[in-house]
Amino acid sequence: MFEFDIQHRDGRARVAQFHTPRGSVTTPMFMPVGTQGTVKGISPQELIEIKSQMILGNTYHLMLRPGEELVRAHGGLPGFTAYPGPFLTDSGGFQVMSLGHMRKITEEGVTFKSHLDGSMVKLTPERSIEVQQALGADVIMAFDECPPFPAERDYITRSLERTIRWLDRCVAVQNNEHQALFAIVQGGIHEDLRQHSLDLTLPFNTPGFAIGGLAVGESKAEMYPAVAFTAARLPENKPRYLMGVGHPEDLVAGIALGVDMFDCVYPTRTGRFGYALTDDGRLNMNSSAPRRQLEPIDADCDCYACKHYTRAYLAHLVRAEELLAPRMLSLHNLRYLHRLVERARTAIATGEFRLWATTWAERYFKGQI
Ligand code: GUN
Ligand code: ZN
Repeated sequence: MFEFDIQHRDGRARVAQFHTPRGSVTTPMFMPVGTQGTVKGISPQELIEIKSQMILGNTYHLMLRPGEELVRAHGGLPGFTAYPGPFLTDSGGFQVMSLGHMRKITEEGVTFKSHLDGSMVKLTPERSIEVQQALGADVIMAFDECPPFPAERDYITRSLERTIRWLDRCVAVQNNEHQALFAIVQGGIHEDLRQHSLDLTLPFNTPGFAIGGLAVGESKAEMYPAVAFTAARLPENKPRYLMGVGHPEDLVAGIALGVDMFDCVYPTRTGRFGYALTDDGRLNMNSSAPRRQLEPIDADCDCYACKHYTRAYLAHLVRAEELLAPRMLSLHNLRYLHRLVERARTAIATGEFRLWATTWAERYFKGQI
């Protein structure tokens, strides 16, 4: 279980089969975010239709509401959500920092005020693993700290060293052989701190490694070198997961740098705001142009929205604030990212990744308004 079979390589990019208890997935892959036990507006049937492979869930949200024991009573996230495929859960540390109030970080863990009812809640490495075992995902994440950006070098160093001690505690209590625990490399945008984190993290030899601490406000010119540096030093034969990334261009860049897994709220969130992703850039469905356009968002896309609706109809739904609008734009945007990684995989398999990526990027950025 959790074997990672590399099938094709092209430069640093690779195509692999990652075997999990609930099925094998093909990487590089994009994972839709289902924070509250649902990918906002999208049914499990639709997720299967657009060929989603693995869905992300959140420890932080689900432990506060409805509580992990209720999820456990359904047999974990697949029973609770009726999505039968593989899941990955994040450990909660990152969400505490972005959503919790009055957080206090100590060696023991993080204490914070719930964003729901204001009660004081404690999350420790042990508690995070306990919750993630109840949620029952196939891949679970180590409890870490993702420092804000910017942060002092000294703070990042102390934080990443504490994250290692937390990793050690996670490993000590993770006893469910059906769940793969991934460690998370931190270190901000500093190469020497990334190296320090790698030196301390790699000996744990976990079944996969994540690159954390990025896409938190730094520029892409700062993020990409940090991804390149870290990915190049992770083991060849294990999945590499770039957390919270990203935009279409970040997926293409990440794949070029050897990343295998991505997740981001971007496709669903930008869909709810009325934007559609295309090879010609992001289309604003609130603007005037699409209102008279009788073609689909993307003639090459095989999603329900593109097979049935014109841009004009979808723009009408957006303007009328109809519920179908955010649903269909989220569905299309997720399918766009799944198709993007599918195209990347084909290009890697045929040894044409570099050409495909530059051709894709040229058109994508030419189309940007
Ligand atoms: N999501 C995005 N970045 C991070 C990170 O650094 N750590 C965790 N746990 N989740 C993330
Ligand atoms: Zn579509």
